[in-house]
Amino acid sequence: MRVPLIAGNWKMNTTLSEATELVSRILRELDEIGNVDKVLCPPFISLAAVRELIKGSSIKLGAQNLYFEETGAYTGEISSLMLADLCEFVIIGHSERRQYFNETGGIVNKKVVAALKSGLKPILCVGEKLEENEAGRTHEVVTEQLKSSLASINNINGLTIAYEPVWAIGTGRAATGEQANQTISLIRRNVSELYGEETAQDLRILYGGSVTADNATEFMQQPEIDGALVGGASLKADQFLSIVRQTSEIKQAR
Ligand code: 13P
Repeated sequence: MRVPLIAGNWKMNTTLSEATELVSRILRELDEIGNVDKVLCPPFISLAAVRELIKGSSIKLGAQNLYFEETGAYTGEISSLMLADLCEFVIIGHSERRQYFNETGGIVNKKVVAALKSGLKPILCVGEKLEENEAGRTHEVVTEQLKSSLASINNINGLTIAYEPVWAIGTGRAATGEQANQTISLIRRNVSELYGEETAQDLRILYGGSVTADNATEFMQQPEIDGALVGGASLKADQFLSIVRQTSEIKQAR
């Protein structure tokens, strides 16, 4: 059985003091929810402080990005070596990085390679744009993103995939549970073709895009969906706790 995972992607939100305040508000309750991996992904500058706060708890830490070189003259960048010391997970290939920072499949691939090499657990994001969805190209786009991101990688142990349709991110217009389940099942089939059925069955695949406390149950009831990558709602203590609680209850009952 795959242990479900809920990750909060705080994106470019929270100052250092806001980050520590948010963690303090959810810490105790979040820690107590079992049967689900809980991952907080604050901005880089808050990683060390959040790490201190969650020490000794069941809460895990993730970063939102990395640069694929390990060290060197890359002003402003953060490497896998730096992160491996601080946190366990790292989000890679988020559509906002692909869209605003021109991250191509090749760059995403180098980042996944760097993360795995340093022992970080990448959360690799894939997802189609609205026009691609409307043109019926979802499967084609997601398959191509998956193949380019994982090119030449023989072992994906530690990897999580997040299916995040771009049109559902931050729009309040989530996919339906059924739509997300269908695309995630296609992703699992692709992974099975590339890495074998056992690896595919062990791989966690999350849904992301306007997940809230109101629709979390719909997603978590789907058999192929192993959790969620939550943006906006992860900044609201009550919402995030509720999403994690619902996930724990639903997946446990299966
Ligand atoms: P929202 O939950 O705000 O739609 O963001 C989803 C997302 O991009 C998580 O990585």
